[in-house]
Amino acid sequence: MNYILFGPPGAGKGTQAKKIVEKFSIVHLSTGDMFREAKKSDKTISALMESGKLISDEIVVDMVRKRLQKDDVKKGFLLDGFPRTLNQAQALDAMLKAENIKLDAVFFIDIAHEDAVKRIAGRRVCSCGASYHIHFLAPKNADKCDLCNSQLIQRADDKEETVKERLKVYDAQTKPLIEYYKKSGIMVDIDGARDEKEVFEQIAAKIEA
Ligand code: AP5
Ligand code: MG
Repeated sequence: MNYILFGPPGAGKGTQAKKIVEKFSIVHLSTGDMFREAKKSDKTISALMESGKLISDEIVVDMVRKRLQKDDVKKGFLLDGFPRTLNQAQALDAMLKAENIKLDAVFFIDIAHEDAVKRIAGRRVCSCGASYHIHFLAPKNADKCDLCNSQLIQRADDKEETVKERLKVYDAQTKPLIEYYKKSGIMVDIDGARDEKEVFEQIAAKIEA
């Protein structure tokens, strides 16, 4: 079972990815999470992310290639946030072909830009990896993580100006993937505007079918 989740910033990729990998016992491969780790020691990556721009295809593809060579991905994987340019999609196809790995589906979670902005504005995250929303997925105690009680923070790239830039970058560089994956015949449209549980049910039903 090998899948891709793609869609605009704030569509709910990370939220759904956590639920999918748990239910189906596959590996979550989030390039955003990998770069949030890398940016701690790499100023170039940090600056690009905080301005809402993409990291170069070369760096991303190389990182994913190495990750896909690890043993754990053999039990199945879910790519979250990769590919997000046509170059990355073509590089991924070549990688998978070389390793004889088949993709089962590409889930395209779509929401309107204004909803993306509302979701991102209310997102709060914990250093342990947990993620919340001040209205839609509120922690039990305001600003504290339910899992480890640490202080919740706003992601550095969740400032309003950066979110606008991320949405522009999505329209220009990632949206063309819709046509690319439609042609491949494995794209599944998911209505991301529904609540978290309903979105998950749409995806799980397709995986189980
Ligand atoms: P990345 O981390 O991938 O960010 P993104 O694509 O902008 O997406 P987000 O994580 O913001 O949104 P999401 O869809 O995961 O939404 P979430 O589930 O959190 O990338 C960050 C940066 O890294 C990029 O800008 C780039 O610089 C770099 N990068 C990463 N990959 C790259 C690549 N391949 N190439 C080049 N550069 C790359 O949900 C959002 C909020 O909404 C949460 O608060 C959540 O609780 C809430 N929510 C979720 N679902 C629902 C629902 N159904 N109803 C109500 N609220 C909901
Ligand atoms: Mg995410």
